[in-house]
Amino acid sequence: MKKVILTGDRPTGKLHLGHFVGSLKNRVELQNSGEYDMFIMIADQQALTDNARNPAKVRENVLEVALDYLAVGLDPTKTTLFIQSQIPALYELTIHYQNLVNLGRLQRNPTIKTEIRERGFENSVPVGFLTYPIAQAADITAFNANLVPVGEDQLPILEQDREIVRTFNSLYGDVLTEPEAMLATDEKSRRLPGINGIDEKMSKSLNNGIYLSDDTATVREKVMQMYTDPDHVHIDDPGRVEGNVVFYYLDVFAPNDPRVAEMKEHYQRGGLGDVTVKKYLIDVLEGILSPIREKRAYYETRPDEVREILRAGSEKANVVANETLKKVRDAVGINYFDKEK
Ligand code: TRP
Repeated sequence: MKKVILTGDRPTGKLHLGHFVGSLKNRVELQNSGEYDMFIMIADQQALTDNARNPAKVRENVLEVALDYLAVGLDPTKTTLFIQSQIPALYELTIHYQNLVNLGRLQRNPTIKTEIRERGFENSVPVGFLTYPIAQAADITAFNANLVPVGEDQLPILEQDREIVRTFNSLYGDVLTEPEAMLATDEKSRRLPGINGIDEKMSKSLNNGIYLSDDTATVREKVMQMYTDPDHVHIDDPGRVEGNVVFYYLDVFAPNDPRVAEMKEHYQRGGLGDVTVKKYLIDVLEGILSPIREKRAYYETRPDEVREILRAGSEKANVVANETLKKVRDAVGINYFDKEK
């Protein structure tokens, strides 16, 4: 049997180049290897845990994220693409797992602690937000996922999910599959900086991103604004490559390109202007983004087709999740009216 991969994204914004090199590209490779059974979830329910007062934002971004998925080459004939909120079994699994986790353990989760601080939730954290690691255990176990590709920030969540699985299995028998986190790409790709400087990760909330849906003119403009070396004032001045966002991007998007090695040397020696390097980066990015943009445009004009892909994917996901739920109910012993036990 093939190993199962499950992962997902919160639909709170369009996806950007950081998502592309940090996860999407890798998912497409995993998909095309044919070695896995892959489920990718648009985690709208999780997005609502800190956006309950703005459900329209979540709703709109479900479609945007779906378009981004299809645009990068996730293929609904190979990968099950679905919407989290449409899988009722996930809610019930969450309730069962809630009984296995104590409050202090959730409050000590380093990711949750950071996210509470970032959102100013210190004095009033929504219960659903605090407990999203438990719901995430439901997401993962419902599909019997062996591998969960995630960013580094999600490792403490995965660790807590693994604990939930072990607790459940030790109490009720060997029912749930214990997942493993998968950090698939190199460190540089996982921490793609935004356009304003190397210390800031590209982020939906910081407005420092290049989006998969940006048009050519926008990409050009953003690259032209990119942080380089503030001391490289005149073309003849020697420039710094470390901490220079343009060269960081070239390392990530044009790895092993001899032209980049040459430009680095020239830049450090002096005599190479920022604009020349930026123009090269624009060409490199356009090479990557233009096929993505084309595919996105195709699906943008066919929203019914996209909706049908998500509907069919959710239907398929429901079959699998319901099987897991049945096993969980049987294991806990709350299957009073089932004919065949
Ligand atoms: N928490 C993940 C994030 O913020 C999104 C997510 C929800 C997820 N459910 C998941 C990721 C299950 C992996 C598996 O990126």
